[in-house]
Amino acid sequence: MLEVRGIGKQFGGVSALRDVSLECRKGEIRGLIGPNGAGKSSLINVISGVLTPDKGAVALDGRNVAGKGPEVAARAGIARTFQNLRLFANLSVAQNIEVALTSARALRPDAVRGFDLHAEMVAFSLIARSEDAARTLSYGDQRRLEILRALALGPSVLLLDEPAAGMNDVESAALAELIRGIRDRFGCAIIVIDHDLHFIMKLSERITVMDMGAVIAEGPVDAIRRDPKVIEIYLGSTP
Ligand SMILES: Nc1ncnc2c1ncn2[C@@H]1O[C@H](COP(=O)(O)OP(=O)(O)O)[C@@H](O)[C@H]1O
Ligand SMILES: [Mg+2]
Repeated sequence: MLEVRGIGKQFGGVSALRDVSLECRKGEIRGLIGPNGAGKSSLINVISGVLTPDKGAVALDGRNVAGKGPEVAARAGIARTFQNLRLFANLSVAQNIEVALTSARALRPDAVRGFDLHAEMVAFSLIARSEDAARTLSYGDQRRLEILRALALGPSVLLLDEPAAGMNDVESAALAELIRGIRDRFGCAIIVIDHDLHFIMKLSERITVMDMGAVIAEGPVDAIRRDPKVIEIYLGSTP
């Protein structure tokens, strides 16, 4: 249902994205990995309409949203979190989510009709902090709040840019469970970027590997784990 085709993006002399294609089906959890500077965030920025590609298409259920801005992407059902958190620091946890819900009721009323704010704050372990300003939350709580705020947009595609960054092993294991639960309850496609291969391989059904702006491997977790190109990138040698 999400089809990314032949995306190219240059920043001056840097080819951030070279002919990148990717497909993600409804209800699929897709891992997106690769070294720093591989182009992962740029790809998420293109899919979410934050960045206009030089070429290529992003189609959601057959409609092209590439280069039309974040609002068109959001209306089509694409929601995301940012590698650097972008919460409303002085608004409460509940207010941060309500801002998203208010937009969603205008942009995608059918998608958020059944959204239960209280139940979701419980599911995201944020209920005890619901009246507290976002800036007073721990880093892990802020990351989960950002995911919940994106979910309150009623997405059919949810893009998570390094959601486990800065979390310890216990927190990231709990986050993996939470992300799987989002997929099970909401049925959306989820693309997850992370550096932690263990986290990504436990969470994803399929993985796309990028290096230097290009997709160098794509497939089920077991095949990716054994792919010589992937091993070379992460371990610096072929088996
Ligand atoms: N807004 C920008 N302006 C200039 N260069 C950028 C910009 N965003 C990304 N880049 C460059 O594009 C390449 C890919 O970056 P990025 O997509 O952030 O990689 P990743 O998320 O995989 O670490 C890097 O060389 C980076 O410096
Ligand atoms: Mg990045």
